[in-house]
Amino acid sequence: MKKFTALLLSLVLALCVVPAMAETLIVATNPEFPPFEYVEGEDVVGLDIDIAREIAKDLGWEVEVQSMAFDAIVPAVASGKATIAIAGMTINDERKMSVDFSDPYYNAKQACIVLKDGVVTDGETLKDKVIGVQQGTTGDFAAEEYTAADKVMRYNKALDAVMELAGGKLDAVIIDAPVAANLVASMNNENLVVLDNIEFGDEFYGIAVQKGNADLVASINATIERINTDGTMDELLLKYFPVEEEAAEDAEAAAE
Ligand code: ARG
Repeated sequence: MKKFTALLLSLVLALCVVPAMAETLIVATNPEFPPFEYVEGEDVVGLDIDIAREIAKDLGWEVEVQSMAFDAIVPAVASGKATIAIAGMTINDERKMSVDFSDPYYNAKQACIVLKDGVVTDGETLKDKVIGVQQGTTGDFAAEEYTAADKVMRYNKALDAVMELAGGKLDAVIIDAPVAANLVASMNNENLVVLDNIEFGDEFYGIAVQKGNADLVASINATIERINTDGTMDELLLKYFPVEEEAAEDAEAAAE
């Protein structure tokens, strides 16, 4: 009987250990946020996805990307359905109540997109206007500082908000600045401009993990540190921010 129990125990142990060996990093994201995450053909790609692959490479794990609404991401990580979330997600106190964050890997601010000849030209004229945002984002919270909650129009896709603005249904869109620049450029619509005279606060993007998973946070931080020092991050920034690439080329040309 003792032998049998020992056998059973080792079998149970083996079953627990085997899946742990072929681990998969399940990455929750919302691919409506170019160039951090977006859909290309059948794939989810972007700066964040490449960073997730670097994290998985250092762990020796596989990657599986799971797309979901932005406001479903924190619950997915908190409940353990996803291993990490990387979604251009700003580290803030509210989210820290549900998940833990890595060190910051990117610094952004909000930006305000308006119509070139529209009524909104600065922070003052933005007040009480109809503002489009991505649901549950820091842009959503920022909008409420300028206008009534019922004048904040919430979209799942950032691009839908920008299209509604272009169609005259909104007065402005508030969204992270790098994404604002990307969307405006991709829409190729001369009537859309990003205001540069409204000062929004600094926001730092972090990678979220289930609360208490300190080993994983340490490993993610080590990868962030590595890619920041071995040139990987610079390469990725050039890959996803062609404007910066042009600026870098200009700088190089000027130096010659
Ligand atoms: N940085 C903003 C936030 O944390 C927006 C992030 C939106 N990300 C996305 N993948 N849709 O709220």
